[in-house]
Amino acid sequence: MPRKILVTSALPYANGAIHLGHLVEYIQTDIWVRFQKMSGQECWYVCADDTHGTPIMLRAEKEGISPEQLIARVHGEHSRDFAGFLIGFDNYYTTHSPETRHFANDIFGKLKAAGLIEVRSIEQYYDPQKAMFLPDRFIKGECPKCHAKDQYGDNCEACGAAYAPTELIEPYSAVSGAKPELRHSDHYFFKLSDPRCESFLRRYTASGVLQPEAANKMQEWLGEVGENKLSDWDISRDAPYFGFEIPDAPGKYFYVWLDAPIGYMGAFKNLCDQKGLDFDEFFSRDSSTELYHFIGKDILYFHALFWPAELEHAGYRTPSKIFAHGFLTVDGAKMSKSRGTFITAESYLAGGLNPEWLRYYFAAKLSSTMEDIDLNFDDFVARVNADLVGKYVNIASRAAGFIEKRFAGKLAAADADLPALQAIHQAAPRIAELYEHREFSKAIREIMALTDGANQYVDSVKPWELAKQDGKDEALHAACSNALNLFRLLTVLLKPVLPGLAAQVETFMNLPPLTWSDSMSCLDQGHTINSYRHLLTRVDPKQIDALIAANKTSLAPTENKTMTTSANIQTAKAIPATDATLCSIDDFMKVDLRIARIANAEHVEGADKLVRLTLDIGEEKPRNVFAGIKSAYDPNQLIGRLTVMVSNLAPRKMKFGLSEGMVLAASDSSGNNPGIYILSPDSGAQPGMRVK
Ligand code: MSP
Ligand code: ZN
Repeated sequence: MPRKILVTSALPYANGAIHLGHLVEYIQTDIWVRFQKMSGQECWYVCADDTHGTPIMLRAEKEGISPEQLIARVHGEHSRDFAGFLIGFDNYYTTHSPETRHFANDIFGKLKAAGLIEVRSIEQYYDPQKAMFLPDRFIKGECPKCHAKDQYGDNCEACGAAYAPTELIEPYSAVSGAKPELRHSDHYFFKLSDPRCESFLRRYTASGVLQPEAANKMQEWLGEVGENKLSDWDISRDAPYFGFEIPDAPGKYFYVWLDAPIGYMGAFKNLCDQKGLDFDEFFSRDSSTELYHFIGKDILYFHALFWPAELEHAGYRTPSKIFAHGFLTVDGAKMSKSRGTFITAESYLAGGLNPEWLRYYFAAKLSSTMEDIDLNFDDFVARVNADLVGKYVNIASRAAGFIEKRFAGKLAAADADLPALQAIHQAAPRIAELYEHREFSKAIREIMALTDGANQYVDSVKPWELAKQDGKDEALHAACSNALNLFRLLTVLLKPVLPGLAAQVETFMNLPPLTWSDSMSCLDQGHTINSYRHLLTRVDPKQIDALIAANKTSLAPTENKTMTTSANIQTAKAIPATDATLCSIDDFMKVDLRIARIANAEHVEGADKLVRLTLDIGEEKPRNVFAGIKSAYDPNQLIGRLTVMVSNLAPRKMKFGLSEGMVLAASDSSGNNPGIYILSPDSGAQPGMRVK
């Protein structure tokens, strides 16, 4: 009887691009799933975009689109990137779905019935300008410990101190710049401190569902019996929020981390409906199926504490195992946008780099522990070129041509006593164990040792010399047939890592899809192969240089973004960029762009297009600027916002007064979109900072 297995990877946030760090996880999971499927197990792999929360709401607002539009676009981008790296999800869904809403309500209702939900009034920072409560990450101010300026509400990047946002000195809202006020609001809590949760989690932690390092972390979080270290978990947020409204609680929403793991259930339920699978068989309390979550070590707390406790007390099964992995570093350091090592999946594929190079490299580095893994580009080039091209593909390229030309594509019987063949048959079950236990680097090391053995065989029989000698046809036929049998077996072992390459091999060798049990057999005498075509190119180090350069300079396309002055918004036209219109960097640097805080904004009596802006750019006296944005903005909404202004524009006398600069805004010159969109800097920018 095959095992029935449900596997998930963490759901990526729907407000950012997939990068190589993410891919560590999706590639790791995909290799494991492919191994299970090849081994004949019933294995389902689901994932989804994590679509809710304040950052997504604000990001959509910044882009001038609805959150629904943002998450639809990102879903397309993420799906494209994952397909590009051959991540074989059975379903890639979204948490913004009726299924996820259903299970969120259901689990919340059951926890409530079990007496594990409590409403409590809490005091929290509120942005009076934006009329919203601020998550810690959106409050900034001076660090109470080291007095570094502009630190986030939860911890200081300068000295590493952790604190509550209320401890910040001179706090301000990173959304609007306004001074936040403390306000009361009712929040819903999941009572993790309840003795039932604690005793369950102690049992669960000790039951072998976690890696040893993760179990130790849990011990730390749980503390000694009687210490009562677990605090209740705040699972609600106030409107405005993009998420699911809590039943019978108008204006209260489930916090994104409440519905995100429930999104695993939502994605699987949706798959069940497509395929006619039985959802309850996988999620009921007495389920005999297996459930595995692959996650990064940063989200262990959510998956090992909250999630199992929720499932347990809502009457569902709990995860069989939680597999946490470490973080990706590039060339020994944290991924960095300025160094060009924050590499997006999209740029990797667009640069013409082969996704299977990265799959192989990550496999060669991954283990079952939570240790970080480093992408060292010199090592990457060396390994891919030496192992995959130099060793593995080389076996086929040295044998296939002779079989095709001299033996009409027909193989001779394999030599069953050949040590290199026997070594593979013997190692296959051990390698299966290594895949099963996520010891991919060990599996790759073994497979490469077997590949060396295969190459030694080819070197010893020298087909290229046999081919030149008379009367050696039979020896040549045997040598090349043995080599291709070895190659086929190695392809079986590598198939979870290199599914695309394996498919090419299946085509060229005329094979049905290879499964793990094929590692125990050889091809029949007379099996006919198709013609060999080059399987894999070498990495050119120049491609890596170009990739890093592309990620350093990736500028957004500038079409449709026209600079607009306060007076000429309606007449602005995009000028086609001919050589004569190009501007040198020196020309550009003459324009002094500054971050400005809109200290005040008001209607101008008698003007139907203008708004009067008072702009703070860190000077003694704020600037007065007239902007033709009345059709698009209510002045009240603008107060407190940060934007970008040209600060050295010659002042202009207007009917209503002096305009001392200009704010930048985007508009569509084709006339399809009548909107006007003023710019906002990323959070962290301060009034007066130069933009260049
Ligand atoms: N949305 C949450 C997960 C919700 S799961 C119910 C989230 N999203 S994320 O986009 O930030 O990360 C998705 C996964 O990618 C996480 O498991 C995270 O650990 C992993 N990684 C993100 N950056 C990574 C590296 N640099 N290296 C390795 N894994 C990384 O967290
Ligand atoms: Zn500090």
